[in-house]
Amino acid sequence: MSKRQSSTVHSISSVKPPASSGEATLRVVFVGHVDHGKSTLIGRILSDTNSLPEGKLEQVQRACAAENMEFEFAFLLDALLEEQEQNITIDTTQIPFKTAKRNYMIIDAPGHKEFLKNMITGASSADAAVLVIAANEGVQEQSKRHAYLLSLLGVRQFCVVVNKMDLADYSEARFLEIEKKYRVFLKTLNLETDVFIPASARFGENITARSTKMKWHHGPTLAEALDAMTPMAPPTDLPLRLCVQDVYKFDDRRIIAGRIETGMLQVGDELVFSPANKTSIVQSIEYWPVIPSAVEGSRGASFKVSQRDPSTPLGMTGVAGDSIGITLHEQIFVERGYVASHSKDAPIETNRFHADLFWIARQPARLSHLYTVRLATQEVKCQIVSLDEVMDSSSLERNPTKADQLARNEVGRLTIQTRAPIVLDNHDRLPPLGRFVLVDDGVICGGGIVYDGVYTDRGAIKSKNIFWSEGKITAQARGAQHGHRGAVVWLTGLSGSGKSTIAQALERELFIRAMHPYVLDGDNIRHGLNSNLGFAPEDRVENIRRVSEVAKLMADAGNVVITAFISPYRADRQRARSIAMEGNAEFIEVFVDAPLEVCEERDPKNLYKKARAGEIREFTGIDAPYESPVDPEIVVQTNRLSVEESVASILERLLPRLK
Ligand code: ADX
Repeated sequence: MSKRQSSTVHSISSVKPPASSGEATLRVVFVGHVDHGKSTLIGRILSDTNSLPEGKLEQVQRACAAENMEFEFAFLLDALLEEQEQNITIDTTQIPFKTAKRNYMIIDAPGHKEFLKNMITGASSADAAVLVIAANEGVQEQSKRHAYLLSLLGVRQFCVVVNKMDLADYSEARFLEIEKKYRVFLKTLNLETDVFIPASARFGENITARSTKMKWHHGPTLAEALDAMTPMAPPTDLPLRLCVQDVYKFDDRRIIAGRIETGMLQVGDELVFSPANKTSIVQSIEYWPVIPSAVEGSRGASFKVSQRDPSTPLGMTGVAGDSIGITLHEQIFVERGYVASHSKDAPIETNRFHADLFWIARQPARLSHLYTVRLATQEVKCQIVSLDEVMDSSSLERNPTKADQLARNEVGRLTIQTRAPIVLDNHDRLPPLGRFVLVDDGVICGGGIVYDGVYTDRGAIKSKNIFWSEGKITAQARGAQHGHRGAVVWLTGLSGSGKSTIAQALERELFIRAMHPYVLDGDNIRHGLNSNLGFAPEDRVENIRRVSEVAKLMADAGNVVITAFISPYRADRQRARSIAMEGNAEFIEVFVDAPLEVCEERDPKNLYKKARAGEIREFTGIDAPYESPVDPEIVVQTNRLSVEESVASILERLLPRLK
C-alpha cells in the first residue's frame, strides 16, 4: 500500500460531515473585461456586507497611508488573494461573503491568473454570475467572451452590473445605451436577464445601498439582485453518476471512494461500472470526509462538503454532492476514472465524441496531435480527428472553411477520438460528465462540452455467478507477435451496397501484408450462429449484439475483424463500438454508402424485387429503416469509387491505427 493510501485510510469515517446551517450557499462568479472594476466591486461588497476578516479594512488602509497611496477597494481583494495563495492547499480562489439572507461564495475571483482555465474546468461550477461592464468603455471583447463561456457551461442565472457610472456622470442615457447593446449580444447566446444595474463600486452606489445619484434606476441593487437568485439544488433527480476517485484497501474491505455528481444510490442497488461494464451490488456506504470535486482541472481544488437532508437514514443512501466510499458484494476490478451508474441509465461509453471546444492556449490546437482529455476523474490520451467549424468567441463569427486549426479564444465544433474508452454524457443532459478539458504536457489548453452522443442499452447480464478470467497473455504481447493490434472494421450499409465485396477485398489486402484479418459476413453468420434470428427489429438487434461480441473476442485474440452487416440501427453500432473497446481493440466504422436506387438496380440476390413484390417483408430500405451513420470514421461511396479505390481509402486510415 502506498504512503498516500495508508495515511488516507485512517481518515475514513462512517460519520456524516456536518450539514451547513441556514439557506444553502450561492456560488457566484464575477466576470468581465480586465479593468472594468471586478476587483473593486468585490472589495466593496465584502466591505459593505461586513464580510471582511476582523481588522482587514483598517490594515489595508494603514498600509496605503504608509505608502502614501490612496486607498482602493480592489486592494482588499488583493490582500485576501495574497493570503490565500500562501495557503498552498487551494489553487482556486474562493472568497466568502454574506448578506442578511444567505452565504455566498465567490469563485475564481478576478486577478487570479488562471481565471479562464478555472472557469472551464468546472471547479467553478457556479450557480450564478455577475457580468461587469465599465460605463466609460462599454461592451468589450472579454465582456462577450466571458458571456459566451457562461452560455457554453450552462450558467443561466446572472445579472449585469454597469460599473464606473461615476465616470459617465451617472447618465441614464449612457446606461441604457450599454444595456441595449449588450442585450442584443446576450440574446444571440440565448442568455437573458432583466437585471441590469447601474453602479459605482468605487463610491458604493447601488452595491448594497440604493444610489441617491441615480434615482432614475428602479431596479435592485447588486445585493438585492443576488439575494433574489437561487442556489442550484443538487441534481438528485438526474441518473446516478458516481465518479471513482480511488480504491482503498481497509481491513479486508475494498472501499471505492468517489463523488456522487448526480442522482442517488442506496445500499442494495445494483451498479454498473463503466467502462468495464461490470456489475455489483452496494453492500455499504461509508462517508468520506473530503474528496476533491470531480471535474478536476486543478487537482485538489475546491473541497465540497456534502449538504444532505439530515432525515435520510445514516449510511443507507448517498445523494448528489456527497463524497462517499462504498463497498460491494462482489470484488470486481474498479479503478480511478470508472463511473458507476444504474444499468438502465448508464452513461455513454465511446472512443469518439463530438464537442464544442473553447481553446485558451497560445499554441493553436492541432489535428492529430496527442492530447490528454480529463473528464470527471478520467484521463485518456486523445486526438482531435476533425474540425468542422471554428467560431470566434467574442464576435461569434463562424468559419466553416478554415478548419485545420483552432486558435486561442476560438471555439471549435469537432470530433475527438480517444485511445481508450471514455465514459461521458451529453452536456445538456448531465453537465458534470459532459464537460472536459484538454491537457498538453500537463497544461490545460481548452475546455469543452460534449453533444450528440448516442446512448445504448447495455443489457443486463442474465447469468449469475459468472466470473471473467483474465488471461496471462496481454493484448500488447499478442500485438507484438502479430505485428499489429487487434481491431474491428465495422462495415455498415444497405443490402447490395458492396459490404461483402469490399470486406473480402480488404481482407485480402491485409492478408498479403502478413496480417491476421477475418471477415464476419451477415449471410454467413445467419447460416450458423444466428440461424435462429430473422429480420424483425428485435432479431436484428440480437444479431448485431452477438456479432459485436464475437468480433470483440476475435479482435482480442489479435485479429483484424472485418464485419459486413447491414446493422441498420445507430444505437447497435454504437454498442458494437463499446463492446470492441472493452477488449481495447480499435473500432472503425465504415459507411458503405450507395443510394437505394443503385442498390436496387444491382440487386445481386434478387431480393429487392421480391421485397417490392411483397414476397419479403421488413426489407431494409423498402419497408424497414436504415439509419445512416452520422459520424463514421470512413465513408466509401461505392457508386463513385471502384472496389480497389474503396479498399485503398479504408487502408489509408486503418493501417496507421493498427501500429
Ligand atoms: S441486419 O439488418 O441484421 O444487419 P444482416 O446483414 O445480418 O442484416 O443480413 C442481411 C442480409 O440478409 C442481406 O444482405 C440479404 O441478403 C438478407 N436478407 C434477407 N431478408 C432480409 C431483409 N428483410 N432485410 C434485409 N436483408 C435481408
